[in-house]
Parts: sequence; structure tokens; C-alpha cells
Amino acid sequence: MTIKAIVFDAYGTLFDVQSVAAITEETFPGYGDIITQIWRIKQLEYSWLRSLMGRYADFSTITRESLAYALRCLGLTHDVATFDRIMAKYLHLDLYPDANATLTALKDRKLAILSNGSSDMLNALVRNSGLDRVLDATISIDAKRMFKPHPDAYSLIEERLGTPPADVLFVSSNPWDACGAKAYGLTVAWIERVTPEAMALECVKSDVVTPLTMFKALRMQMDELGLVPDHRIRALSDLPKLVAAS
Ligand code: LAC
Repeated sequence: MTIKAIVFDAYGTLFDVQSVAAITEETFPGYGDIITQIWRIKQLEYSWLRSLMGRYADFSTITRESLAYALRCLGLTHDVATFDRIMAKYLHLDLYPDANATLTALKDRKLAILSNGSSDMLNALVRNSGLDRVLDATISIDAKRMFKPHPDAYSLIEERLGTPPADVLFVSSNPWDACGAKAYGLTVAWIERVTPEAMALECVKSDVVTPLTMFKALRMQMDELGLVPDHRIRALSDLPKLVAAS
């Protein structure tokens, strides 16, 4: 395989969705973890449900709706300013520490993001993080009005980069996204940030399962969908070695 383009998922892969926990905990002490996990789980669910229903709304809207759900179901009243302050973090999510160095090391290939994020929130996030200096394209599925893992979303890669699927390495830490890319016919590197051994140990270790542990069990273990990623790596920093060997 000749890798001519490396395409990254954004939320959870280049940017840490758990980095909202500081502001959710500061705003609602004691609730930070459970707000963070319900918010992300519902955000993904809403993208899948809206695709299935044919009721597209952009990811910015879905991110607001899923935050509203999380706060309401926990009985946490808030004013608009508080809500907007939490939402603003989604435009300033923490980059994973190895993201910049990894993308710089891969710069001799086309580098892009393909994300469910809406164009406005993605462009702001990429600019705020400085990744706009190293990315060739930031592709939002907005144009298709269909979220990943629907195949229409992945078709944007060839449409926008002009690179056929056979020459693309797709990178995601989201198992459902890695499976969707594999189903579409891309070569996939899945970032397995929590190994099955670590997952099992985390559950056995205590009789109380934290919301974050529950999130890891629901959204960070490879799904049983009959699809297997081509590569399982532990971190973005494993990519240059993988790409050099391909
Ligand atoms: C993304 C997340 C939702 O598409 O996986 O960036």
C-alpha cells in the first residue's frame, strides 16, 4: 500500500473530549465526570439517531442538545451564560500531547481531518490549536448532511483530496468510526487507548464503576461489528513508524 494521504478523526483522536471535565467540574462540583460522560455518549447517539431518522442537524446543534440533556437529567439548573461557557470549551479542546509532533513527522503526505464536527466548530478548533499550520484540509461531513459511520461521509475524502481510498490511511480512536471507515474500504489504524487488560483491571479494581470507566467500556473498546481495523496502535506517536514500514 502507498499511503498518499493520512486522514484523522477529530474528537477523541486528535482532540481530547475528556478535556471538558475541568470546566464541568468547576461549574458543577461533584458532577464533572458524569456530565462529561453523559454529554459525549448522548452527542454520539444523537448523530446516529438523526442520521437514521433522516433528521440531520449539525454537530454544533447536537453538541448543545446533548449537553442540555446531560444537565437536565442530572437536575442541574443553569443560566444561558453558564451553558455557553461550558459549550465554548468545545472550540478549545486539548490536543493530545503527541498530536503536533506526529502530524509534523508525517508532513510529507497529505494530512486531513474528516470529522462529524460542523465546519464552523471544526475550523475554530483547528485554528485555536494551531493545527491549521500542518493540515492540508479540514473536512466536515456537513456537506453530506450524513454523519460517520455512514459511507457518504467517508466519500468526502476522495472528493476533497482527490486521493482514492486505496491510498488513504484513516486514523481514529473511536471504534465505531474505525469500523465505519473499514466498511467503506479504507485502510484503518485504530488508536486503542485502553487495552482490554487495562479495561478488565479497572472494572475489577473497585466495586464502584465511575462514569469515566463506564465510558471507556462503552466507547473505547473495539466493537463487535464483524469489522477489524488493519492496525491497532496505542497512540498517535506510533504512526510515523507504521507509515514508514507500509
Ligand atoms: C468526529 C468524532 C465525532 O467525527 O468522532 O470528529
